[in-house]
Amino acid sequence: MKAVVVTDRNLGTAGMTLSDQPEPHASENDVIVRVHASGFTNGELTWPATWADRAGRDRTPSVPGHELSGIVTGLGYGTTGLTVGQRVFGFVDWTRNGSLAELVAVEARNLAPLPADIDHVTAASLPISGLTAWQGLFEHGDLRTGQTILVHGAAGGVGSFVTQLARERGAYVIGTGRGRHRETALDLGAHEFVDLGSDSLDEVGPVDVVFDIFGGDIAKRSAPLVRPGGVLISVAEPVTAPEQGRAVFFVVEPDRRQLIEIAERVRTGRLRSVIGQTVTLDEAPAAFNATSHPAGRTIVQVSS
Ligand SMILES: NC(=O)c1ccc[n+]([C@@H]2O[C@H](COP(=O)([O-])OP(=O)(O)OC[C@H]3O[C@@H](n4cnc5c(N)ncnc54)[C@H](OP(=O)(O)O)[C@@H]3O)[C@@H](O)[C@H]2O)c1
Repeated sequence: MKAVVVTDRNLGTAGMTLSDQPEPHASENDVIVRVHASGFTNGELTWPATWADRAGRDRTPSVPGHELSGIVTGLGYGTTGLTVGQRVFGFVDWTRNGSLAELVAVEARNLAPLPADIDHVTAASLPISGLTAWQGLFEHGDLRTGQTILVHGAAGGVGSFVTQLARERGAYVIGTGRGRHRETALDLGAHEFVDLGSDSLDEVGPVDVVFDIFGGDIAKRSAPLVRPGGVLISVAEPVTAPEQGRAVFFVVEPDRRQLIEIAERVRTGRLRSVIGQTVTLDEAPAAFNATSHPAGRTIVQVSS
């Protein structure tokens, strides 16, 4: 099968090449999926799991891309809950070969049925960003109606879902980003927008929840904005707790029930993803190395 692989962690996306790879093997409770569309984030090439398995052994050549939408073509030993021919979407464990490939082996529990009225490109953009937003807001942040939330990178992959889900929950949403993201963030449901290049973050607040995707200085400057009892949620790196609140850093986990909730919102127009461009598998290495790209996610359409 054709797959994009990486072999050298020092090269970043420049080391991505398209090659012929052996077809994946379905282990117990796995399914094999013919990938129709795949999502990839540049950050994953810095994650240890891209390069080593759970025992720390080198696992290159490694196939990146951990979000997918496609059709089940095979079942592993003992797999239940999904059937051959079924449309599915979801995400592949970090330590396994990913979805920038024609075929991928995935644990069935990491996938959810894909409703007929959601296309594969849209579906491939949902799992990581959607689940990260969902788990951050509702499992780790316990966001409630009437609370105020500061959403960093509100027009980006994760932030766009955080903004929409927080607004749906009935929170007051303050989005941040670059000046050019203002319209998108407001359009997604933010009540206010802070341009991190020109507005003062220090004047924001107090807020009940900060959802941070940046870490570093922005996370540090956000901690004092959290009111007593509030929470600073980070998906970028472990952060120091605000003086009278708590801090949570977490890594997103697969969850079929939550994927179904997200898909239902997409199907009914309550949630949308911001997709900038689609490229083919052949074009993927060049697309991820382009010096500029359209705003929004790049999704790889592996087959039509
Ligand atoms: N822990 C977890 O489980 C988890 C899960 C998902 C994601 N993440 C991490 O979360 C981070 C964000 O992911 P994402 O998918 O949301 O990325 P993304 O789609 O690139 O979104 C980031 C947004 O922030 C904007 N931005 C970047 N630098 C900025 C700056 N200096 N000032 C203002 N705006 C800026 C980007 O704009 P431009 O596009 O114009 O740069 C974009 O709109 C990544 O580091 C990713 O690895 C972690």
